[in-house]
Amino acid sequence: MSGRPARPSPQVMESLARELRATLGEEAVRGDAATLDAYGRDESDAGVFPPHLVVFPGSTSDVSAIFRLCQAHGVPFTPCGARSGKSGGSLPVLGGVAVSLERMNRLLSISTEDLVAVAQPGLVTGELMKAVESRGLFYPPDPASLDMCTLGGNVAENAGGPRALKYGVTRDYVLGLEWVLPSGEVLRVGRRTIKGVAGYDLVGLFVGSEGTLGVATEITLQLLPLPRVVRTALLSFPSVLHAARAVSAVLAAGILPRTLELLDDVAIRAVDGRSFHFPPGAGACVIAEVDGNVEEGVTAELTSLGEVCLHEGALEVLVAQSETQREGLWAARRGVSPGLRALKRHKVSDDIVVPRSRMAEVIGRLKAIGTELGLTVATYGHAGDGNLHANVLYDSPDDWPRVEEALSRMLRLTVEVGGTITGEHGVGLSKKRFLPLEQPAPLLSLQRQLKALFDPSGLLNPAKIFDDAGC
Ligand code: LAC
Ligand code: ZN
Repeated sequence: MSGRPARPSPQVMESLARELRATLGEEAVRGDAATLDAYGRDESDAGVFPPHLVVFPGSTSDVSAIFRLCQAHGVPFTPCGARSGKSGGSLPVLGGVAVSLERMNRLLSISTEDLVAVAQPGLVTGELMKAVESRGLFYPPDPASLDMCTLGGNVAENAGGPRALKYGVTRDYVLGLEWVLPSGEVLRVGRRTIKGVAGYDLVGLFVGSEGTLGVATEITLQLLPLPRVVRTALLSFPSVLHAARAVSAVLAAGILPRTLELLDDVAIRAVDGRSFHFPPGAGACVIAEVDGNVEEGVTAELTSLGEVCLHEGALEVLVAQSETQREGLWAARRGVSPGLRALKRHKVSDDIVVPRSRMAEVIGRLKAIGTELGLTVATYGHAGDGNLHANVLYDSPDDWPRVEEALSRMLRLTVEVGGTITGEHGVGLSKKRFLPLEQPAPLLSLQRQLKALFDPSGLLNPAKIFDDAGC
């Protein structure tokens, strides 16, 4: 195979479809208009890119066979899970075959003694969490879409979430993988033990590779013992700058809660009154959650945290009085992204990370960019990590030049202060034009060479991460 991948012709797709149906069975290959439209969309607002076909493998050997057939026909193929991605990573931009892993959704094993779970990629993250928690175990990564997103997608994007502050992100929990290379070859990489340094860290390379180096068909995860006590507080502040400064002050005071989530006034407005009523008049809120095994210790930690925040100007510290109240608060937090979409007709969502010491300053400057360009900017997210979801909301596609300008300024600012353009959602399609802001040409070139080593034809998930990768 040589040259860049291209949109396949109808003739090529017809003969590939015949072979896929013969190999996988009729019901595992779909080409009806509604399915193609649905699999051409995700949560990124990056556009609609319907594939020519969607296939639903049921096993590793199916995935391998699909990859081999696509290679033989020179047809691009793009893996997907729940299509909850926010950078367009699973959009089939050149058409071809969308490979949905959603039928491979079994939880294969949980070992209480080894603190390890093994799952297929289509398992919904929240289902894994519930299954391990029922056995006194804990899988910490908690992306906001946990009720729908899948482990395969979390691995592809190295998903984070509020609890990353104390517990880290998906990569910190993936021990081993069964990995189907773009050629269709099946590898097992990594291990089932907590430690292990044999050879290069291919698991580390795969996790976060955004579905461009292959597909994980089995995922071995490290678990933790479930903390016995969890306490949650909602702190309200007069402004987002007060809240951001309080977050830094909490960490500087030597307190490490498991979450320090920020919601500015726009984010609060987007979700207020549904599953939770926020304090009237709050300019911003922080959701702080502390966990441990000893009630007194956890309560004392939350009290100290509240005192630090009051010292930084908090208006109120409300401690969740029941699990129902706590769940209502978290449901509100998880609803911010969809809630913001309802405020204006369009939005672009960001996931920048800045050094925590610069967070308050950066939020101020992000808001100023919005004001200068006449756009509403909502800022919320994982403030404890310096990971901010700056969302630009707008009414009409005619506003796009201003939105693009705002995005570009925001990302430049991020890099200027020593941050990164994406902390959880990936580069995918949405940010590939901005990656050179952060990474110099030799680093981009090295990564393109890695991609070419794993995927010489470039047919797997083309036109992602690197701006010149086909398309
Ligand atoms: C969140 C998603 C957008 O934290 O990452 O809500
Ligand atoms: Zn997030």
